[in-house]
Amino acid sequence: MTSLVYIPIALLVALYFVLKYKHSYWTRRKIPHDTPRFLFGSVDEKILGSGNPTEHIKKAYWDLKKRGDKHGGIYLFYNPIWIPIDLKLIRKVLVTDYDYFASHGFFHHKKDFISDHIFSKEGEEWKVLRSHLSPTFTPAKLKNMYHTLYKFGHRMEEQILDSCKKCQPVNIKDTTAIYLIQVIASCFFGIESNSLNDLNSKFKYYGKQISQPRPLRFLLESIVNWDLLAHLGYSFFPSGVRTFFTSLIKDVIDGREKDSVTRKDFLDTISQMTKNGGPLTFEDVVATSTFMYAAGFETSSSTLSYLMYELAKNQDVQDKLRSEILSICKNSADGEITYEDLSKMKYADMCVAEILRCYPPLAQLPRACTKEYRIPGTDQIIEKGTTVVIPVWAIQNDPDYFRNPTEFDPENMSPENQKFNVDDAWFAFGYGPRLCLGYKFAHMQMKVALAKYLKNYKYKLNIATPERLTFNFDSIVLLPAENIILDTEIIS
Ligand code: HEM
Repeated sequence: MTSLVYIPIALLVALYFVLKYKHSYWTRRKIPHDTPRFLFGSVDEKILGSGNPTEHIKKAYWDLKKRGDKHGGIYLFYNPIWIPIDLKLIRKVLVTDYDYFASHGFFHHKKDFISDHIFSKEGEEWKVLRSHLSPTFTPAKLKNMYHTLYKFGHRMEEQILDSCKKCQPVNIKDTTAIYLIQVIASCFFGIESNSLNDLNSKFKYYGKQISQPRPLRFLLESIVNWDLLAHLGYSFFPSGVRTFFTSLIKDVIDGREKDSVTRKDFLDTISQMTKNGGPLTFEDVVATSTFMYAAGFETSSSTLSYLMYELAKNQDVQDKLRSEILSICKNSADGEITYEDLSKMKYADMCVAEILRCYPPLAQLPRACTKEYRIPGTDQIIEKGTTVVIPVWAIQNDPDYFRNPTEFDPENMSPENQKFNVDDAWFAFGYGPRLCLGYKFAHMQMKVALAKYLKNYKYKLNIATPERLTFNFDSIVLLPAENIILDTEIIS
C-alpha cells in the first residue's frame, strides 16, 4: 500500500529533475539565455492561443542585444533554440558555413510524401531537386507566365471599377487573395480559368490549414523519431490537404494526357521530369506544386495588402508610384505594362523592398544544425540537431541598421540612402543557397498587381481601417489582424 503512494511521488520527482535538467541545456553549453519558466521555457501562455513564437523571438533579440551578446538561446517549452543576432555570425550561418546549417529543420518523410518538398529536403536530395526546379523560373519561363498574371490582374481591376461605380470601399485582402489564387492555380496547377471561381474557397481553406502555426506538432517532431512518426501514419499537414492537392493534380495531368494537351507551363515541365525514368515521381510533383502554393500565396498576399495599406496612408508615395506606372504606360505601344517594362519599375522595387523590411512575411528564418558547429572565436558548441532561428523582423526594425525603422519610407531603399542601411540586414527572401526560389515570380506578380491597382484608381484609408495595424499570429506568415478596407475613386 505504501509503495502505491511512493511510486507516483518518486516518478513525479524524477520527472521534475529531468525537466529541470532539460532547462539547463544552455547553461551547460555556456550560451547566454534567460532563466526558463517551468513547462513554458522562454515563451508564455499566449503561445497556447496563437501558437506562434514570433513575439518571443523578437523579445529575445532585444534582450540579447541590450546585454551586448552576439547570440543566445531560448526554450520553446523544452526545445532549445539558438538565435544568432550578430550580422557577421548570421552571414556565416546562412552562407559561408551553410554546410553546418543545411536544413530548415522541417519534418519530412517519404511516407508522408507531401511533406517531402524542396523547403524541407536536405543535403544532396535538396541540391538535386533545387537544380531541377531552378530552370522553371528563368526569365523566358517567367515571360511565358506573364500573360496569365496580366489576365487575372485585369479581372482584379474590373472588380475595383465595379466597387467604384457602386461607391463601395474595397477589401484589399480579399481582392488580392482572389487575384493570387487565380495566378497560382493557373501557373502551378495548370487549372483553366473557367473552373477557378469554384476552387477559390477550397484553395483559401487549404491554404489556411497549410499556414497554421504548429507548436505542439513541432514539439512532437522534436521528441519522436521521424521514421516512427511516419510509420504511425503521422502527417505534417492536416490530412485533407494531401487528399485535396493529390486529386486536383491527378485530374489535371490525366485530363491533359487524355486530350493530348501541352501547355508548356510549370506543371507540364515538372510532370515531364517523371517520364522515362526522370528524376521526379508523381508524389514529388504533388509536393512541389503544393509547396509553391504554400510559399507563394500568403507571403505575396500579405505583402501586397500591407503595401496598399501604406500607400493609402502615404498619399505622396502613392502618387509617385502611380506617376512611374503612368509614364511607363505612356511609352508602351498599347498603353499597358509589358514583361520587359517590369525592370523599369524602379520606384515599385523600392516600395516592395521597404514593405518587406517593415513586414517580412517570414518574421524569422528557420534552420537546423546539421553538423556540430563551433561558434567562431569561442569554445561554444552548437550541437547537431539544434533548432536555429534568424530573427529577421527584429533585425529589419533595428535603428542600428535602418533609419526610422518603424516608419514606411521607400526612400530607405533608394540607391542614395542605401549607405544608411547595413549590408545583410535585409533578409525578407532569405539568403545564401536557400534564397527564395520564387522571388522573381513574386516580384512579377506584385508589380502587375500594383500597376493594375494604381493606374486608374486612388486609395484612402476607410474609416473601418485603423491607423496602426496589429498582427494575426494564427499563421506562420506575418498577417495583418484587421481587414484592410480602402476607399477608392476613379482618376478622371
Ligand atoms: C513576397 C513573397 C515571398 C517572400 C517574402 C518569400 C520568402 C521566402 C523565404 C524567407 C524563404 C526561405 C529562405 C531561406 O531559408 O533562406 C523562401 C523560400 C522559398 N520560397 Fe519564397 N517567398 C515569397 C514568394 C514565393 C513564391 C511566389 C514562390 C513560388 C512560386 C516561392 C518559392 C519558394 C521556395 C521554393 C522556397 C524554398 C527554397 C529552398 O529551400 O531551396 N516563394 N521564400
